[in-house]
Parts: sequence; C-alpha cells; structure tokens
Amino acid sequence: MLCLKVPTDPRWAREARRDLAAVLIDHAHCEMKAASNALSLAARHPRDLALVKALTDLAREEIDHFQRVLEVLAQRGLELGAPPVDEYAAELRKAAATTPRDQSLPVLVDRLLVGALIEARSCERFKLLIDVIEEPELRAFYKELFAAEARHYRTFLDLAIEVGGDAAKVEARLDALADREAEIVQRLPVNATVHG
Ligand SMILES: [Fe+2]
Ligand SMILES: [Fe+2]
Repeated sequence: MLCLKVPTDPRWAREARRDLAAVLIDHAHCEMKAASNALSLAARHPRDLALVKALTDLAREEIDHFQRVLEVLAQRGLELGAPPVDEYAAELRKAAATTPRDQSLPVLVDRLLVGALIEARSCERFKLLIDVIEEPELRAFYKELFAAEARHYRTFLDLAIEVGGDAAKVEARLDALADREAEIVQRLPVNATVHG
C-alpha cells in the first residue's frame, strides 16, 4: 500500500481486536506526536512560507484528530496516560540518519519522507482496524482517518519533492527508506499499538 514494501503481520489485527483500548490510547498519542512534529518542522524552517503553511494546516488537522480520539477514550472511560516510547518512529529516524544519502538532498527531505512513511503505515493499519471494529460509529471514524492518512502521506511526499527539487532523487530516497521501514516493522514485536 502506498510506498510500503511489506504488509503488516496478520497477527497485528488479532492483537488490536484483543486490546482495542490499548490501540485507542496509543493512537491518541500518535495524533499528538504528528501535530507536534509538524509544528516543530514548521518552526525550524520559517523562511519557506509554503512549507510552513502546509505543515501548520497538517498540525491543525492532527490536533483535531487527537481531540476526537480523546472523546472516544472519554466515552469508554479510558485515560490517556503518559506517552509510550515510539520505538518505530525512533528507529525510522535512526535509519534515515544512517542510510547514505545523496548529499544534494537537504536533511529536511529525510524528515519529510520519514513523515510520509509514518503516515503510510498508519493508513495501512487503520484499514486493518476498520475490519476488526464492530461499532459502526468507530468504524466510520477510522474510515475517515484512513483517507486522511493517505492524503497526509501525499502531502509529505509532495513537500519532500518541492524541498529536494528533483522528484526522481526524492523518490529513490523514499524507496531506500521504505526498505529500512520494512526491516523495522518486521523486527519490532507485534503489539496492540498503532505502529508496534
Ligand atoms: Fe491524524
Ligand atoms: Fe496524519
């Protein structure tokens, strides 16, 4: 799906069904992290107004998602709790830093492509979640989020191409990082978390 090289292990959907509460709590944290990541990238690149606009629009949407997941938690009497360590995202950033890069591409391209990969994997997982959720309202919510994540994937990729200035080079870089993402996702344990 999208740029992903391997599908999610089928055991993940079973884990998610077994402990949907854990997935919902983790998902809320993911939305918050997506918003703060978009804001921190925008704050670090103030000279690129188009980039700042796109990233702050994205952050606004991620905050909206966060608040809506919070409502789902409240309806179920679940607490947000402290944010877990997002090993997947940390490993992905580490992989980007250690995968030799065409030096003509700015580091920001990697940050945007890591964002694209996270969105792509979330999108794939939400599709799997839709199939295990029985409540119609919650299913509809994840259908909407599935479409949003696909769109966010495209936003990050378009921004990376804009910043990199060479679509072929940026796409080759995405391909190399997607290989690393596939290794990471296969290496991490199967947990009831969005990326675990
Ligand atoms: Fe989101
Ligand atoms: Fe997103």
